[in-house]
Amino acid sequence: MILAIETSCDETSAAILSNGAVLSNVISSQMIHSQYGGVVPELASRAHLRALEAVTNAALRAAGIEKNEITGVAATSGPGLAGALLVGLMFGKGIACSLGVPFVGVNHLEGHLYSNSLGDAGPEHPFLCLIVSGGHTALVLVRQLFEYQVLGQTRDDAAGEAFDKVAKMLGLGYPGGPLIDKLAQEGNPEAVRFPRSFLEEGSLDFSFSGLKTAVLYHLRDRGLMYPEEEGASIDRGTMADVAASFQEAVVDVLSAKTIEAATRTGTDRITIAGGVSANSLLRSRMQSEAARKGMTLHYPRAEYCMDNAAMIGYVGWLRLKHDRASGLELGVEANLVL
Ligand code: KG4
Ligand code: ZN
Repeated sequence: MILAIETSCDETSAAILSNGAVLSNVISSQMIHSQYGGVVPELASRAHLRALEAVTNAALRAAGIEKNEITGVAATSGPGLAGALLVGLMFGKGIACSLGVPFVGVNHLEGHLYSNSLGDAGPEHPFLCLIVSGGHTALVLVRQLFEYQVLGQTRDDAAGEAFDKVAKMLGLGYPGGPLIDKLAQEGNPEAVRFPRSFLEEGSLDFSFSGLKTAVLYHLRDRGLMYPEEEGASIDRGTMADVAASFQEAVVDVLSAKTIEAATRTGTDRITIAGGVSANSLLRSRMQSEAARKGMTLHYPRAEYCMDNAAMIGYVGWLRLKHDRASGLELGVEANLVL
């Protein structure tokens, strides 16, 4: 019976899992950052501190268990915002100590990699995973349990970050990904031909900063930048066309590189994970591309795309099962790698 805690960015989350099955998964999203158009680290740490106990109690209640039934505690140890991570890691260690049960630190990215195994039967090993979130864009080959090979990653912005920044330019709110996804459904994806950055021949890395700048110049040259700051608004059709064209460019690159990585590694099981894996165009494109190549695609249930403690609990459960508990001296690591 695992209690899991996730506080790496702006979601405070606690979950209870019994033998790898999710009994509860409570997520409290910090709204304070929306007025700044991005996550403010110090505000995130403080908000975690305020919310964590109530979120944990809610997870226990929703699972219908008492604290003393917990047999292990998992918490995210990195990567993420150092202060935010510290709050969750220390809280988790404290509970493990007080109950006298094992504690395990979990890599946030490992959580995303296994988010397809929550609630549904996940893929067998080996499988390829495209992690796409606000902080990360990476192609990872999961050879077997705990054995990862990073095949490519972003050299600048993460895909979700690009969605958020373009949404800000368009005067939409934060987080921008879901808003662009929705608005794009009214637009023409071929209205503007934004650049696709494939980098050098054969590279499985990503780059989204050029695309972001192209959107910026497109809007600026037409006097359409930051409409809300000018007290103006762009007409909805134009905004929808820009949103759809931008999204098309991102999805073109993500899907092409993922299929290429699967082909190159001889893997026919593909998964997508992270906040951007909720994107409707990415899902449908990946689905059709995978089917065309005779590959299978898994994507997480909606509640497991965004940052959540259930995915941390799942990996924590796997690690404890395989005698990989952490010592209480474990610290946070903002740049922890797989
Ligand atoms: O995984 P996540 O909750 O947090 C990080 O680890 O970063 O991902 C959040 C990111 C944000 O950038 C958000 O805009 C993006 O995921 N996102 C989306 C969609 N839903 C969330 N991006 C595109 N389309 C969506 N439907
Ligand atoms: Zn994440």
